[in-house]
Amino acid sequence: MYKKVMAGILLAVLLITTAYLMAQDNTGQRDAQGRRGFRQRFGTWLEDIDKAYQANDWDKMGQLIEQMKQDSQRMREAGPPGADRGARVRPQIAAPAETDPVQTKSVVPASEQTIMMVLDDMFQNQRRSMMNVPPEDGKVLRLLTEALGAKTVVEIGTSNGYSGIWFCLALQKTGGRLITHDIDEGRASLARENFKKAGVDNLVTLVMGDAHETILKLEGPIDILFLDADKDGYLDYLNKLLPKVRPGGLILSHNTSMRGQMADFINAITTNPALETVFIHQDAQGLGITLKKR
Ligand SMILES: C[S@@+](CC[C@H](N)C(=O)[O-])C[C@H]1O[C@@H](n2cnc3c(N)ncnc32)[C@H](O)[C@@H]1O
Repeated sequence: MYKKVMAGILLAVLLITTAYLMAQDNTGQRDAQGRRGFRQRFGTWLEDIDKAYQANDWDKMGQLIEQMKQDSQRMREAGPPGADRGARVRPQIAAPAETDPVQTKSVVPASEQTIMMVLDDMFQNQRRSMMNVPPEDGKVLRLLTEALGAKTVVEIGTSNGYSGIWFCLALQKTGGRLITHDIDEGRASLARENFKKAGVDNLVTLVMGDAHETILKLEGPIDILFLDADKDGYLDYLNKLLPKVRPGGLILSHNTSMRGQMADFINAITTNPALETVFIHQDAQGLGITLKKR
């Protein structure tokens, strides 16, 4: 009896919350399509919750409520369709054009869908303690790699493979490969799984151990060097690998907002006359883009 009363109260609260969210949604935050999708989704859930309630299925009710909470959170984070998606927002997987006319411009081609789904899943479920680049930096990594037609990308700091998979989005087009380095076996084994799920494991060589040592075996030419490991080690990585980066190649350095911890490195990439550096996304984690001019 007590359980039933509690469930009845819960159901009433849910109905009120949903009505409130729908009313908010009506204030012009989202376009017509967004509103329709929102109503459809929440309407279906309420029906399912009601069914579970009628059937006294408490486990099912709990699951549905949890899903509804998560989806509502995701919709809040995603913002209005077409809006600029910032650091906190997951990479978007657009629905096929015929069912999603509003977002036609961002439709993901078939060859990228598996990778984008894996990236999305990693962003949703793994990013805690993985120290991944945010999606807007991932997009820059991909874009530069593809624009350069890079054949060899060297990454220091694999973690669970998130940034590596962004590189692979481009490398599957350029016919290139990624050589990525990490010292932590736990994260590396997760990376192996993720590379496999994304279908890019054939493009990746994962080198285990202290990268300050393991990179000594690397052979050039390197098209893109991406630094995203121990911040006070960036200068050592640069000194060891700059001779192997080809002229016209790039050195990308993550977390350049932490200037204090990498002052010597920042100094090196901004004062060497053979290098040209710009910094982007400095209001977030920061990404240095350095061209080796000659
Ligand atoms: C910031 S995370 C890398 C995140 C990854 N680039 C991404 O965006 O998905 C840094 C990684 O560098 C690794 N690392 C730290 N020091 C290292 C070293 N000396 N040699 C190799 N890897 C190192 C850590 O184990 C960690 O997984």
